[in-house]
Amino acid sequence: MGEGHLPVLVDEVLASLAVGPGSSIADCTVGGGGHAERLLEASSPDGRLLGLDADRAAILEAQRTLARFGDRVILRPANFANLYDEARAAHFIPLDAVLFDLGLSSYQLADPRRGFSFAADAPPDMRFDEDRGLSALDLIDGSSQRELAGILATFGEERRAGRIATAILAARAEGRLMTAADLAEVVAAAVPTSRADAGRIHSATRTFQALRIAVNRELEVLTPALTGALAALRPAGRLAVITYHSGEDRIVKRFLARESRDCVEDPLPPVCLCGHRAQLRPIVKRGITPTAAEVGRNRRARSARLRAAIKLAPAGA
Ligand SMILES: C[S@@+](CC[C@H](N)C(=O)[O-])C[C@H]1O[C@@H](n2cnc3c(N)ncnc32)[C@H](O)[C@@H]1O
Repeated sequence: MGEGHLPVLVDEVLASLAVGPGSSIADCTVGGGGHAERLLEASSPDGRLLGLDADRAAILEAQRTLARFGDRVILRPANFANLYDEARAAHFIPLDAVLFDLGLSSYQLADPRRGFSFAADAPPDMRFDEDRGLSALDLIDGSSQRELAGILATFGEERRAGRIATAILAARAEGRLMTAADLAEVVAAAVPTSRADAGRIHSATRTFQALRIAVNRELEVLTPALTGALAALRPAGRLAVITYHSGEDRIVKRFLARESRDCVEDPLPPVCLCGHRAQLRPIVKRGITPTAAEVGRNRRARSARLRAAIKLAPAGA
């Protein structure tokens, strides 16, 4: 399945989730099982872990990595938007710890068949769940220039979205865009690398990110998934989320801020009428980022940010 995947911020995740013997844990993005393996070790001898992943190939990889933990592990191919139902069906509620490590894994990036990387000699598919929804190429083919530019601007924060969308649709109409490698080439030809980005990122980075986010509805599923996690946690249970770009980090930050407040009316009234009560207490204020040493070992960690919180007991309990 290609190169291995190094789990990001792993010591920080373990410290934030504070699992121990007997813990009931959900890893909502089990991937190759890197974080899951460390969580199972930390919760020995009898902690249990429910691992979800939308990608069936990831579930197979995790089965191999986690085989030695036997029936302490249950793995399910599922979207984490369904966390609550999956956890209930597997008898994991209430949970002591929930982890989300968002985005894609090194296994997915390294598999040319999936079309996630600039070098892939296969159509840009980019679906985590290959059994469902439209591929990135379907999305391109079904979009007008305006729609495609909107996707690139919204999900990739691409400033040159209009020019790139025009170039992609022209190349597609002329039969010059069949593979992910073609897509990277078309984007690179349409927009010279800006001085700020030179040597740092490929000029197609934002385009690939935007298409992947759109194809997998990555931002849409996040708030429902976090809401499900909060409902599934026991009081004093812990939630940890690793994000890799500002769009998803903003959603997580807002969710944690809202669920840490007693009143969510804006502006705050003299007397709260909304009835909202804080359910979480953030563990660190601005999130945790990797050390330079970790980024040196693992380039994928460079944009990571970990946010974590503890669930509060209900008022009056
Ligand atoms: C960064 S990787 C996780 C790596 C894992 N923590 C490890 O250490 O091996 C992210 C994983 O989340 C999965 N994923 C992304 N969005 C998902 C969703 N909505 N539901 C379920 N899995 C998802 C991807 O398929 C990918 O395998």
